[in-house]
Amino acid sequence: MGQNSRQPFGFHYVRDSKEQMHEMPTNHRLLLSARPTGIPGPENFTADAEPARPPGPGEALLETIYLSLDPAMRSWMSEGAAYKQRISLGEVMLGGGIARVLESRAEGFAPGDLVQARLGWQSHPTIPGRYLQKLDLTLGTVEDWIGPLGLSAVTAYFGLRDIGGLRPNDRVLVSAAAGGVGQIAVQIARIEGCYVAGIAGGAEKCAFVAGELGADAAINYKGEKDLSAAIARACPEGVDLYFDNVGGPTLDAALEHLRQDARVVLCGRISQTHAAEPYGVRNLGRLAAARGRMQGFLVFNYHQRYDEARTWLAARRRDGSLRQRLHVLVGLAQAPIGLGMLFRGENTGKLVVRLAEAPGPR
Ligand SMILES: NC(=O)c1ccc[n+]([C@@H]2O[C@H](COP(=O)([O-])OP(=O)(O)OC[C@H]3O[C@@H](n4cnc5c(N)ncnc54)[C@H](OP(=O)(O)O)[C@@H]3O)[C@@H](O)[C@H]2O)c1
Repeated sequence: MGQNSRQPFGFHYVRDSKEQMHEMPTNHRLLLSARPTGIPGPENFTADAEPARPPGPGEALLETIYLSLDPAMRSWMSEGAAYKQRISLGEVMLGGGIARVLESRAEGFAPGDLVQARLGWQSHPTIPGRYLQKLDLTLGTVEDWIGPLGLSAVTAYFGLRDIGGLRPNDRVLVSAAAGGVGQIAVQIARIEGCYVAGIAGGAEKCAFVAGELGADAAINYKGEKDLSAAIARACPEGVDLYFDNVGGPTLDAALEHLRQDARVVLCGRISQTHAAEPYGVRNLGRLAAARGRMQGFLVFNYHQRYDEARTWLAARRRDGSLRQRLHVLVGLAQAPIGLGMLFRGENTGKLVVRLAEAPGPR
């Protein structure tokens, strides 16, 4: 056995910086082993386990509680991913989440603190303190922080308000309405006094959108031959703001129903992720006729204003007007399966993986 001698029960003894033996947990990791050609899954990853790395100066050793699963991760796995998100084969899969500090040599962090960070798909990462953000538990629970105070919710907030210029009485249409971003977009529009219709795949998801989320109408696009006709029935007065999570033919159908001065928010285009040929949008003429505008955005550009969004969202959690559904998978091995679920429409609500028990409300 070498310096890092393996011990039973998931703990290891390693030498720390003072050359003392130190008991460390096992860090279970998922490494990118093959780039996906279609929907990603377990075949793209290999699992390994090694002793967690003791924190160096300025670092903290963490225990991952939740990992967030997001459609964008599929593009990070590709050769052509942007520099900051590119993952080399053999590296730990990237991903954000919430963790508990186990040991800290980072100023301002102590064991027991709850933080969010780009943890990667691993159970016990060691990360510099400058990349950690402490959770403000006066705003919400750990489950709130991975859900309605998390990045999906913040995306819905800035997409609707800043890009969409949301106004009371707008007629709002949201696609992927039963998903992580969509469920919050539907509710923000409802809370702001808008008429809201959601598009989702399947009767159960539509029942969730119209029931729990309180939308005025829900369209099961998988059960409709003519999506445009279904939108006309659900939005008889047309659409002032279309919040687009899917792109492709759904975007085209929505464009047909734009009202004067309509806004189209390009949040995502998940339907095009695995398309052999990019879909050519046909109804852009409707945008001109409506004197509307269409704009894309990336939530990361709003990082200096995340607190504003979270303060608003937390207040709606407290008064009971903002609900959330977390779709929880348990265990690191579920992460690759979960990533594929997003592209097969198998999640309802915000999809996350739980690796460890979260502390209850404080
Ligand atoms: N702009 C930004 O900064 C930003 C930030 C976060 C997320 N996003 C985007 O927001 C969108 C939603 O993300 P999310 O994390 O909340 O995921 P999500 O909505 O929880 O999950 C993805 C959903 O997309 C739908 N879908 C999958 N394949 C589809 C297809 N071929 N056609 C139509 N719908 C399909 C499925 O719902 P159905 O069963 O209803 O089809 C699925 O449940 C994604 O496009 C994502 O890339 C953008």
